[in-house]
Order: sequence, then structure tokens, then C-alpha cells
Amino acid sequence: MALLDGKNILVTGVLTNHSIAFHVARLAQLEGANVILTSFGRQMKLTQAIAKRLPQPAPVLQLDVTDNDDLAALKDRVLEHVDSLDGVVHSIGFAPQTVMGGNFLSGEWADVATAMEVSAFSLKSLAVAAQPLMSNGGSVVGLTFDAKFAWPVYDWMGVAKAAFESTARYLARDLGPQGIRVNLVSAGPIRTTAAKSIPGFEQMEGNWPQRAPLGWDQSNPEPTARAVAALLSDWFPATTGEIVHVDGGVHAMGQ
Ligand SMILES: NC(=O)c1ccc[n+]([C@@H]2O[C@H](COP(=O)([O-])OP(=O)(O)OC[C@H]3O[C@@H](n4cnc5c(N)ncnc54)[C@H](O)[C@@H]3O)[C@@H](O)[C@H]2O)c1
Repeated sequence: MALLDGKNILVTGVLTNHSIAFHVARLAQLEGANVILTSFGRQMKLTQAIAKRLPQPAPVLQLDVTDNDDLAALKDRVLEHVDSLDGVVHSIGFAPQTVMGGNFLSGEWADVATAMEVSAFSLKSLAVAAQPLMSNGGSVVGLTFDAKFAWPVYDWMGVAKAAFESTARYLARDLGPQGIRVNLVSAGPIRTTAAKSIPGFEQMEGNWPQRAPLGWDQSNPEPTARAVAALLSDWFPATTGEIVHVDGGVHAMGQ
């Protein structure tokens, strides 16, 4: 039996074939899952095109995580394709460039608020929108970049990730009684569209491959996607509020 046999999984955040979410969707399908994607606005056409590169066709639903109408409509849009969900992948992040790239001290609240809403609060919005579809329990998995540290150039996106990690713990508390697990994968740097939009991203990558005891390939999202697939599976039945590091081991090193 494959890892995700018969599971219905909603995957947000597929933008290109470099997106972490694209590799999650691909692996999930290969492991027997029925995958539904979401995208929004002008990115919808890109997602629809890239979805054709998956092993099987996958529907793409409209979902801007900051749009209350989209969130309210999510349940009915999903029900057009499946009766329920077993897993939800949050693979969403955005911050205006004015609050990254060394602009920490000059960051204005309006831009910080955007980063917080899209990158942190959205985990709560997505989980609550999907909650009615997981009445038999399920697994919510999100992606973070280790928020314990102040990184070069990450700035307010790093603060948003700290809020995101905390949000996952509170969701684990409140959704646990319904059998819904909420866990995160803390990935090392991967060259995706979101990463390349951070001015000076190469300073964050630093000498990651050298510092990682296992080494690290910034062009390979598959190790991260595998951990997401594992957390979506039935093999972590008693794990919630957890952060699994997929970073070659850098988080555990002194330098
Ligand atoms: N690339 C890295 O180095 C890295 C490392 C650790 C964690 N992450 C996290 O992984 C996740 C996925 O990012 P990625 O690196 O695959 O980049 P990506 O650019 O491929 O994906 C980001 C996604 O966020 C979506 N998005 C942005 N605003 C949205 C909104 N309002 N509503 C719905 N979707 C919205 C975009 O459409 C896009 O698909 C993010 O949370 C990111 O912070 C990335």
C-alpha cells in the first residue's frame, strides 16, 4: 500500500515547477493521493499550466487566502470534486520587498501587516475554511524557515514566520480534539520564486551546503516535499504542533 493511498489532499502554493508545493503534489499523487490544487488571480493560469506536468491532472480552485469570499466558498468548491479532505498543505508566503532585504528598521506597519496576513494569519484562515471537510480528522502541514534566528535580509518575513510557527501550535491545540494534526516542515533555502523575491537571498543561503552535516542542494525541493508527504500520512498519528527540520542538519549545529 502506498503512503497516501486513497487520501484527498488540498495543496495550495503551486506556482512553478520549482515550487515546494509542486513537488508535494507530485509525490502525493505518486503515493496514491487524490490532489486538488488552489491558486489565485493572475497566477491561476500559471498554476493551471504547471498542473499539466503532474503525473495526473488536478483541478485548480480559486483561493486567495486573504479573501473572505474565497475562504467561505472553499468548502463548496472542494465538494465539487471530493466528499471530504484528509490533508491540507499550506505552502504560501509573501512580504512586500519594502520589509525585506535589509529594510527591517524602515519597515512600515501597512507592509508588515500584509506579510503577517498572507504568511501567518492565513494558516488559521485556511485551516478553519477546511475544517468542515475534515470531520473524520486530518493533517494540516505548512512550510516555515526556522524563526528562532534573525537571518540576514529576511527581516519582517522572519517575524511573520515566528507568528506562523506560533499559529501552528495554537491550531494544534484547538483542532486536536477533532483529530486534526497541525505540523510544519522547516526547510533550508530552496531557489523558488518566493525565495528569489527576497532581495539578497544569496546571503541567507550563505554557506548552507558547507554547514549542513548532510550537505544541502538549494535546487532540490524533493527532500522537503517528502517530509510534507510523511506528515500527511498515517505514520505520524500522535504528532501535532511539531516542526520537522529538513535543512541538512544546519539547525542543530553551533556554526
Ligand atoms: N524557498 C525557500 O527557501 C523556503 C524555505 C523555507 C520555507 N519556505 C516556505 O515555503 C512556502 C512555499 O514557498 P516556495 O518557496 O515554494 O515559493 P513559491 O513562490 O513557489 O510559492 C509561494 C506561493 O504562495 C502563494 N501565495 C502568495 N500570496 C497568496 C495569497 N494571498 N493566497 C494564496 N496563495 C498565495 C503564491 O501563489 C505561490 O504559489 C512558503 O511558505 C515559504 O515561505 C520556502
